[in-house]
Amino acid sequence: MCPDATARPPDLVGTKVEVAPGGIGAGSIDARVGRDCPRCPRLVAFREAWRGKQPTWHNAPVPSFGSAVARLLIVGLAPGLQGANRTGRPFTGDYAGDLLYATLKEYGFAAGDYAARPDDGLALVDARITNAVRCVPPENKPVGEEIRQCRDFLKATIAEMPNLAAIVLLGRIAHDGTVAALGRRLAAVPFGHGAQHAVDGLTLFDSYHCSRYNTNTGVLTPEMFREVFAAVRRHLDARGVS
Ligand code: URA
Repeated sequence: MCPDATARPPDLVGTKVEVAPGGIGAGSIDARVGRDCPRCPRLVAFREAWRGKQPTWHNAPVPSFGSAVARLLIVGLAPGLQGANRTGRPFTGDYAGDLLYATLKEYGFAAGDYAARPDDGLALVDARITNAVRCVPPENKPVGEEIRQCRDFLKATIAEMPNLAAIVLLGRIAHDGTVAALGRRLAAVPFGHGAQHAVDGLTLFDSYHCSRYNTNTGVLTPEMFREVFAAVRRHLDARGVS
């Protein structure tokens, strides 16, 4: 279900959003954001610097991956410099993607083989992946204003998914940004690994982020991560097809 498909961010009012099975319709938020979003000066400067250093890399806002008609949305933090920022596909080419895509495949949310490249033929099944912040931040750390600026795009991403039923939130920044995008107070929807929250007909599933740091330090084990997606699978299977 779609929480409020009519609630467009201020500068997107009047935009006709076409829901395209492939995800990037002419009026979709990905198409609207494009490659040269000017909103965050620090991120624009970083992007420009990397365009100079690595002209063959994506070096632009990273669009969502997967169909807008999916029932599941996964929200990450931000593109990794040599991962999504290089390849142009969320979680593709960095350590976090290895665990994420293997887990998605195990629970039937991905088909094909993940080979850390956007042309590997991997497809998401009833799932879509986006980031709370679309541009790569220096040292992987977006600042509060950048997260707020990009929240309009997260809101629009959610609004253009008519069948959305479940959202997996990878880490606290994804959790906080999505809860704010849904218009809820954080105190009423606190982050906790394994927690589930019902919000406007959606179920939010919290997980620690599947970063190399979290997995190397044991904060998140592959088993803990699998349990989150097992719960999502059970939830969607119990609901049936919408
Ligand atoms: N790559 C992404 O696209 N997002 C993350 O949160 C981490 C890596």
